[in-house]
Amino acid sequence: MASPKAPGQGALFAFEGGEGAGKSTQITRVADTLRAQGWQVCNTREPGGTVLGEAIRAVLMADHDVPMPAMSELLLMFAARAAHLAQVIEPALADGQIVLCDRFTDASYAYQGAARGLGHESVATLERLVQGERRPDGVLLLDLPVVVGAARAAARGKGNRFDSEAQSFHDTVRQTYLERAAEAPTRYQVIDADQPAETVAEAIVSRINHWLGS
Ligand code: TMP
Repeated sequence: MASPKAPGQGALFAFEGGEGAGKSTQITRVADTLRAQGWQVCNTREPGGTVLGEAIRAVLMADHDVPMPAMSELLLMFAARAAHLAQVIEPALADGQIVLCDRFTDASYAYQGAARGLGHESVATLERLVQGERRPDGVLLLDLPVVVGAARAAARGKGNRFDSEAQSFHDTVRQTYLERAAEAPTRYQVIDADQPAETVAEAIVSRINHWLGS
């Protein structure tokens, strides 16, 4: 049976990407594969993952008559993240589990910091406050052209407040993710998500196994 990269320590891997990139499908697949390899896997998502986080998610995803201020949006993301870290992520890591998280703080940099225009420093300040030193051990960036992702999301048919933003918003999100990945290539893996799901899953598992040193 495989063991975590260091005894007693788990690992946190975030799955990121624009709308329609197939993150949820991939997380389920990859979790199954890692479990079959003998790992203990915690599969979770942001915003969400706790009772409080899911309640905050409902507020964040719903359409409101009065638009939500961008700073409120950012603070709600981190309010959910604080509960997620305290109640799910840190306990799972302490238990030696592999945590697969459907979005994490890179999404705050891409969506709120860049696309909403709040700036890198607003996000970095909250990241330090809420997470301390905690960062993902690896980030899987499922990348695909915005138009392809939008078509997939439309076919899926359950849009949220973010899906309906202009293409320029989603272009900025994609660009920001790619820039962050280019700045730290050992911690990020960009994966072409416009390929068969099985090929994408193989690429993800291979990279996670590399990060885990197994
Ligand atoms: P999804 O995970 O189902 O794609 O939906 C979550 C939405 O929330 C997605 O549009 C991106 C957005 N989001 C942010 O804007 N900032 C964040 O920090 C996170 C975690 C998600």
